[in-house]
Amino acid sequence: VGTALTVVALRKLQWEVPAAAVGDVIMQRIAVVLEYPVAFTRGAFEPDNAIFADTLARRERDRKHRFVVVVDSNVAAAWPTLGADIAAYAHHHRARIDLAAEPISIPGGEACKHESVLADLHRRLAELRVDRHSYIVAIGGGAVLDVVGYAAATLHRGVRLVRMPTTVLAQNDAGVGVKNGINAFGSKNFLGTFAAPFAVINDSRFLATLEPRDRVAGMAEAVKVALVRDPAFFAWLVAHADALAAFETDAVEYMIRRCAELHLEHISQGGDPFELGNSRPLDFGHWAAHKLEVVTDHALRHGEAVAIGIALDSGYSVEAGLLAERDRAAIVELLVKLGLPVWHDRVRDPVLVDGLADFREHLGGELCITLLEGIGRPFEAHEVREQLLRRAIDQLDPARRSR
Ligand SMILES: NC(=O)c1ccc[n+]([C@@H]2O[C@H](COP(=O)([O-])OP(=O)(O)OC[C@H]3O[C@@H](n4cnc5c(N)ncnc54)[C@H](O)[C@@H]3O)[C@@H](O)[C@H]2O)c1
Ligand SMILES: [Zn+2]
Repeated sequence: VGTALTVVALRKLQWEVPAAAVGDVIMQRIAVVLEYPVAFTRGAFEPDNAIFADTLARRERDRKHRFVVVVDSNVAAAWPTLGADIAAYAHHHRARIDLAAEPISIPGGEACKHESVLADLHRRLAELRVDRHSYIVAIGGGAVLDVVGYAAATLHRGVRLVRMPTTVLAQNDAGVGVKNGINAFGSKNFLGTFAAPFAVINDSRFLATLEPRDRVAGMAEAVKVALVRDPAFFAWLVAHADALAAFETDAVEYMIRRCAELHLEHISQGGDPFELGNSRPLDFGHWAAHKLEVVTDHALRHGEAVAIGIALDSGYSVEAGLLAERDRAAIVELLVKLGLPVWHDRVRDPVLVDGLADFREHLGGELCITLLEGIGRPFEAHEVREQLLRRAIDQLDPARRSR
C-alpha cells in the first residue's frame, strides 16, 4: 500500500512541475448562441406583408434599419417590377426601414461564385457605405446567396445578411444554412466562411418563374434528406410525387418547408454545425454529384447531379449488401417520377472514381461516405470498393439495362 501511494504522489509531482515550467495557459471560452428565423411567406414585398420589416427590426425596435439589396440578374429579369416593389415597400414601412440604393444586380448562376464578382460587390458595398448596422439583403438562387453571403461575412468582418432564396434548392437547402463561398483554383467552394445569416425569408411566389428543370432539380435534396433522416417524409414524397412533378403549390410549399426544417435540425442538433468532423450524412449522393457537375461543366444542375448521385449510391448500397433491392427500386422510381435524371453518360468518366480521392482530400484524410441500410437509415462507410462501384454503374446504365 505504501509503495502505491508513493507512485501516485510522484506522478502528481512530475505532472505539475513540467506543466508549470513549459508555460502558462489561459483557456479562453466564449459561448455564442446563433439564432435566426427562417420565415415562409407568399409575396414578401406586398406592402401589407410585415414579415420583411419585422425581420429587420427584430433586434432593435426603436431605430430605422438601413438595407441594401443584391439581386440575381435572372430574378431581376423575371420580375421587372421588383426594384420598384421593394422601393414602394420601403416607403410604406419608412418608419422602420430605409432602402439605401437601387438593387445591385449580379449575374445569376454558378458563374457569380467568382473572385471578380466578389471584388465588385465589396467595392459597391463600400461605395454605399454599408456598415455594421446595415443589412445586406440577398435575393436569388443558391449561387448568388453564396457569393453575397461571403461578401457580407467578410465586409467589416461580418455584416447582417438577410437571405431571400428564389429557387427550390435555395429555399429547401442552400439558403437556410450557415455556409457561403465562391469557387477558386478549380475547386468548388474553395473559399468561404461559416456564418449564420441574420434571417432567411422564403417567398414561394418567386418560384413561379423558375425554368422547369430548376423547379425539379431542388427536389433531389428533399429526397436526399428524407433518405438519411425521415422515412415518413420519404413516404410523403412518394405519395405526392405527381403533385410535385406538376409543381402544385401546396405540395411544393410543404416539400420545401419539411426539407428546410430537416436541414436546420441537422445543423443545430447534428453536433457538427461547422463541419469539423468527417461525417456528413446530408452529403449523401454528393461525392459523385460534385464530380459530375465539374465534368459536365455545370451542364447538369446541382440537384440533377445529386439525383444521379443518390441513384448511384443507393445502387452501391445494394451491391455492398446493405440495402434491399426493392428500396433501391423505390428510390429510383421516385426520382424518375419527379422528373429527375438518374443517369448521365459522364458517370462512366474515369475521373468520377478519382473523385473519391478529391472527396477524401476535402474532408482532410479519411474517406467517409454515407450509404443506406434502409430508407431513413444512413450508414457510414470508410471505403468504397471500385469493383462494386463499377457494378452499381453498370446497373444504372440505361444502355446496359435495355440489352
Ligand atoms: N451554402 C450552402 O450551404 C449550399 C448548399 C447547397 C448548395 N449550395 C450552392 O447553391 C448553388 C446552387 O443553387 P441553385 O440550385 O439555386 O442554382 P443557381 O443559383 O445557379 O440558380 C439556377 C438558375 O436559376 C436562376 N434563378 C434563380 N431564381 C430564379 C427565379 N425565381 N426565376 C427565374 N430564374 C431564377 C439563376 O439565375 C440561375 O440561372 C450552388 O452553387 C451550390 O454550391 C450552397
Ligand atoms: Zn446539395
